[in-house]
Amino acid sequence: MTNLITLPGLVDVHTHLRVPGGEHKEDFASGTAAALAGGITTVLAMPNTSPPLTQPAVLAETLEKAQRSIFCDVGLFAGASPESIANLVELSPSTVALKIYLNDTFGPLRVEDLPTLNKCFRLWPRSKVIAMHAEGQSVAVGIGLAAAYQRPVHFCHISRKEEIELIAAAKAQRLPVTCEVTPHHLFLTQDDAEQLGPLGDMRPRLAAAEDVAALWAHIHSTVDCIATDHAPHTLEEKQSDTPPPGVAGLETSLPLMLTAVKEERLTLDRLIKMMATNPRQIFKLPIQPDTHIEVDLDDEYTITNEMMHSKCGWTPFAGRQVVGRVQRVVLRGQEVYSQGQVTAEPGSGKVLIV
Ligand code: DOR
Ligand code: ZN
Ligand code: ZN
Repeated sequence: MTNLITLPGLVDVHTHLRVPGGEHKEDFASGTAAALAGGITTVLAMPNTSPPLTQPAVLAETLEKAQRSIFCDVGLFAGASPESIANLVELSPSTVALKIYLNDTFGPLRVEDLPTLNKCFRLWPRSKVIAMHAEGQSVAVGIGLAAAYQRPVHFCHISRKEEIELIAAAKAQRLPVTCEVTPHHLFLTQDDAEQLGPLGDMRPRLAAAEDVAALWAHIHSTVDCIATDHAPHTLEEKQSDTPPPGVAGLETSLPLMLTAVKEERLTLDRLIKMMATNPRQIFKLPIQPDTHIEVDLDDEYTITNEMMHSKCGWTPFAGRQVVGRVQRVVLRGQEVYSQGQVTAEPGSGKVLIV
């Protein structure tokens, strides 16, 4: 039996494609193939690369590489750091948004001082979003900046009860803030982290059951987007003495969320809002005409490491039962993915400039 439904091409506003410098973990071809396999036709790629996307020359070279190899549409984030703050204006025309890391995570990008934060808010064009990796009380810092400068701030991977409640309070005051939540923070807890070891380690870390419950309690209200924070690292790196934080997510996000729809934890309408409509609206992304995905809702299966298109070849969700398999993806009238295979030409995706 098949029960095919058609959905809009999904948008992931938080993907690590690892170019430049981390191509052994992922590259533009493998990462955008993984996106299509997950029903995602637009990804926004993070700037914590090596070197990071804080220099115009690095950005220009990275855009060229992307244009040669991407299978779906890709927009790049510019990165903020105290040393390269003067570059922000020059980076802005060829990126979709600015990413500021306020807390510790993978890579060297960090902004931990108020003078630099002020400069980010003064220099970055008002027409473009500022996104933040902010954990705990850093969320309050971000809300304060959004209020003071009266401009949109998007909070990445919100994972704790007190954070989602603070964002709900900020929204109630009509402050221009939005947020995303990842599937791993919705479907895994600290207990899973213990079982998974380094394969369950990411930033923000997996949280308590109470935090997960709070995220679900806000799923029809405060949570604007589901974003994957697809952060691939090789198994070898994960099993080393210094495992880097991060897990893949592009290919498991939709089936996990569709399984939650089946279990009546959210509606299909809400899923479409959080995985397509809202991300597009918040980041002002262009619509993709004649674009849709076809998903078999009757296909029940177990997630395996082997089915991953991502170079990393593993997922913390291996062994989990889900429903909903992406059968086919059509991008601008062209079939780009069918029955597990990418059918697009490398470079047929567009680099997004907003
Ligand atoms: O777990 C994470 N991994 N969190 C981040 O913020 C960065 C990411 C990465 O780039 O590996
Ligand atoms: Zn982050
Ligand atoms: Zn990330």
